[in-house]
Amino acid sequence: MTRTLVIIPTYNERESLPLQVDAVLAARPGVDILVVDDASPDGTGEWADARAGQDAHVSVLHRPGKQGLGAAYLAGFAWGLDRDYEVLVEMDADGSHRAEDLSRVLDAPGAWDLAIGSRWVPGGSVENWPAHRRLLSTGANRYVRAMLGISVRDSTAGFRAYRASALRGLDLDGVESQGYCFQIDMAWRVARAGGTVVEVPITFVEREHGTSKMSGAIIREALVKVTVWGIRERATQVRRAFRRR
Ligand code: GDD
Ligand code: MN
Repeated sequence: MTRTLVIIPTYNERESLPLQVDAVLAARPGVDILVVDDASPDGTGEWADARAGQDAHVSVLHRPGKQGLGAAYLAGFAWGLDRDYEVLVEMDADGSHRAEDLSRVLDAPGAWDLAIGSRWVPGGSVENWPAHRRLLSTGANRYVRAMLGISVRDSTAGFRAYRASALRGLDLDGVESQGYCFQIDMAWRVARAGGTVVEVPITFVEREHGTSKMSGAIIREALVKVTVWGIRERATQVRRAFRRR
């Protein structure tokens, strides 16, 4: 069996996390879970510790404060690569990424380096999102495709599986993205490195407990970074074209 680690970043997910941990272990017995908690004031980290004490399939990484989704995942990747997992999965704690879609992502056909659980491919969908969140997500994805020239339909998706070998080939120390822009950054890095990115449809269900950590700062970071990357990429292409002449 492929050694698989499901990394779940948490900040104030005390109500949601227990449901998600149970759902994941039931949907895909044999996987291990790593909770990466940023010192949640609501006791999420303490709950995770107690659960890890009873369950060999659950581990916890504590970070000293809220440092963003990107930093949490990078710490989780380092932990998993150190322990020789072959596949590293990203999943939200809040139930939006349904455990019943996990096998669809992990068993995505073909030899993929990154398999994305996508909302914006045929068959994919979002439930209970207000119109402005839909627009933000579809708009952001359209902008990413235009600026970076990648064909991924849902590059901001937080439900995905990486082949460890693909992650090992990337310069993870060079990843600076802190917020949800991290997802775009990573998809682009895998694509640029020549990795195979596939998308499988999933149903994203908006959370029932707790609140989203999406913020203006997170949107601004993504907008600025994608714009800078896009311009830099074009400048590189122009330089290459001149050199060729
Ligand atoms: N450790 C840690 N630190 N976890 C965090 C942080 C942080 O700074 N910020 C968010 N999280 C965790 C949340 O606790 C949750 O488990 C997960 O990351 C996703 O956060 P949400 O706040 O629920 O995100 P969302 O529902 O608004 O956004 C969804 O859509 C984004 C854009 O498409 C997610 O699927 C994102 O992954 C996705 O990029
Ligand atoms: Mn959410």
